Amino acid sequence: MAQIVKDIFIAKDLLDLQEIVAIPTETVYGLAAKGTSVEALRKIFEAKGRPSNNPLILHFKDWESIIPFVTTTTDEIKKLASQFWPGPLTLLLPKSEKVPKMVTAGSNRVAVRVPNHPVTLELLRALDYPLAAPSANPSGYISPTLPEHVERQLGKKIKLILDGGPCASGIESTILGWEKNTPIIYRKGVITSEQIGEVLGKLPQFKKKSKVLEAPGMMSSHYAPHTKTVITDNLMATIGDHPDKKIGLLTFNTSMVLNVEKEIVLSQQGSLEEMAKNLYAAMYELDALGLDIIIIEKAPDNGIGKAINDRLVRSSVKTLDQ
Ligand code: TXA
Ligand code: MG
Repeated sequence: MAQIVKDIFIAKDLLDLQEIVAIPTETVYGLAAKGTSVEALRKIFEAKGRPSNNPLILHFKDWESIIPFVTTTTDEIKKLASQFWPGPLTLLLPKSEKVPKMVTAGSNRVAVRVPNHPVTLELLRALDYPLAAPSANPSGYISPTLPEHVERQLGKKIKLILDGGPCASGIESTILGWEKNTPIIYRKGVITSEQIGEVLGKLPQFKKKSKVLEAPGMMSSHYAPHTKTVITDNLMATIGDHPDKKIGLLTFNTSMVLNVEKEIVLSQQGSLEEMAKNLYAAMYELDALGLDIIIIEKAPDNGIGKAINDRLVRSSVKTLDQ
């Protein structure tokens, strides 16, 4: 069992000793380690069962502290930094030699962000190094949005979970990089392409599926419960396709009042932000019930709904396409 505490200095002591600690962010909980220590980084990969070719995001207290870790600081980058940080935007930038190869899995770009969570910002201010942190779940499973989720999945493998309450946004950060001056979204997330477009004066493009592993967050199967999961925009038909099954239902805003084992409405008000915030906790809850199948209603495909649907599709795919 991991200890669940609110005191950042207990976390600091362990991190200084090159141990791993789960930390809250506004998106999901992260599994953090000293970002400049290969010994500490290795423990992240071990605890998550994460392939070593999957790079990590470095978390910083502010933009100024990122500068020594990158080699480019264009006006576009500075504009995005001042508009969205602290916040759920991750930028892929050319790395300096201060970034260990293990962080970037050999790539010459490093993923950086300033998380918007008061507890973790306070922790980062107390440290003189950035924190490498992937989501605090076993590789391929649902990202955690509560300390209990981390405890359930990784409690035997880590000593400490820093408690920052439920994550406010509930799905992961948007990942943005550049290819020949064109801004590209590699992972849809809390910040929408329209919001980025407004700051840059041009809409970013979306990374098309490639054979090369650009960001394993783009792998087909990811964010997946153990229970078979199906995504649909026609709940009635999909439920009808599974007679005599123990069904768990996740709907956006309408209660179906159907004879299923368990139903959770993600946002009574029909708010996509609320749906994102509640989604992973609801998936954890259903996955613990021993159901035959989880049926999830697609979100309306606009704003943060695009990122929600991206995660839903990946959570329902059981095979990797690479
Ligand atoms: O919201 C978030 O981003 C959360 C919180 C904890 O910050 N973190 C997170 O980390 O989602 P993770 O490791 O679960 O997902 C990060 C994604 C992975 O798909 C990884 O492959 C990609 O970012 N990534 C990291 N560094 C990269 C790099 N140098 N080049 C390409 N992709 C990178
Ligand atoms: Mg993850």
